[in-house]
Amino acid sequence: EMPLEEQAQCSEYDTKKWEFPRDRLRFGKTLGRGAFGKVIQATAFDLEKSSSCKTVAVKMLKVGSRNSEYRALMTELRILIHLGPHLNIVNLLGACTTKEGPLMIIVEYSRHGNLSNYLRGMRHCYTGSHNDNGSKQEMNKQRLLSDDSADDGAFSGTDDPDRSSWLNDKRASRTSYMSGTGSMTSQDCETGRHTRLSSGCEDSRMNLDKHSHVSFEDEDEKGKEQKQKLNLTDLLSYSLQVARGMEFLASKKCIHRDLAARNVLLSDYQVVKICDFGLARDIYKDPDYIRTGDARMPIKWMAPESIFDKIYSAKSDVWSFGVLLWEIFTLGASPYPGIQMDEDFCNKLKRGVRMGKPEHATDAVYMAMLACWDNPDERPTFTKLCEEISDVLQEEA
Ligand code: ADE
Repeated sequence: EMPLEEQAQCSEYDTKKWEFPRDRLRFGKTLGRGAFGKVIQATAFDLEKSSSCKTVAVKMLKVGSRNSEYRALMTELRILIHLGPHLNIVNLLGACTTKEGPLMIIVEYSRHGNLSNYLRGMRHCYTGSHNDNGSKQEMNKQRLLSDDSADDGAFSGTDDPDRSSWLNDKRASRTSYMSGTGSMTSQDCETGRHTRLSSGCEDSRMNLDKHSHVSFEDEDEKGKEQKQKLNLTDLLSYSLQVARGMEFLASKKCIHRDLAARNVLLSDYQVVKICDFGLARDIYKDPDYIRTGDARMPIKWMAPESIFDKIYSAKSDVWSFGVLLWEIFTLGASPYPGIQMDEDFCNKLKRGVRMGKPEHATDAVYMAMLACWDNPDERPTFTKLCEEISDVLQEEA
């Protein structure tokens, strides 16, 4: 099968549908910055309808970026167009591609920033499994559990015959498994990450826009509902939403390659969206990216077959999802606390050493993590993970 990057190259950039005039963007603060790219908050005027304005995030290159970075950003745009929209990814809203100015990709803005920082900021108000948000919480849960929450048909076709629960399997003992040579060299880890995310179309615009009716009122002022408390249901809801976004990406043959809580954003109404900072992340400063020779790799989130053999697949994304679950249920802790990220760590992973159960995880959730960290062919699919997490959410009344 054709790789996603090539598939996306085939679809011609549809200027009429996505082109947006640069002069209708007003730039604000910087949201992310890397060596070659950046993400800037902006207000877009008349993006969806005339006399409206909306807070958006704009991805662009920095001065001094090279042709290869321009091509990477253009590929990202093509992939976003090709993917189409989903509630749980950061969707495309428009693009500025005309040659008179810099290439810009306009995507949905997520008010609460990345999930890792958000959870850490909410630690002081975690209330465990006590559901004290009352009926509102219950309504959110019902909305989440009903298939209507999907804004397209991506959640159909989950008729997996094997509904027997891997969550209930007693799989605590991991056997070691091996691949590769066991030593990590710069060559082993040098991997081009080029799959990028987001997508968009009318559906998601409508979905985002249903609360806006006042012209020129900044979206930023709308829907402000600061959460006072966080509980187990919230954590399960975030987990399920990420699994749904990933199920969608996997169905489109999109491999994320850098799934982690830092690449998940939280929007209004507790909607979680997967993104990829890619060029707009300073992997030279971010301690999550470990130097291995010339490359910087998110070792703590990487499956052993990615570390040792540079193999990336939906299965390696599932491994990363397991680490993301661990991040969620520790309220944003850094994985493998106190452990030096070196060759010895990688060999321990190979031998089957795994993280322990996070403080806030239930047994079922921890079983899901361990299943994600199994041998590639034993790992659950995202569809399976969606089913299992909704089951846990349903039980957690
Ligand atoms: N930082 C990077 N991208 C963002 C987005 N789409 N929304 C909010 N913050 C971001």
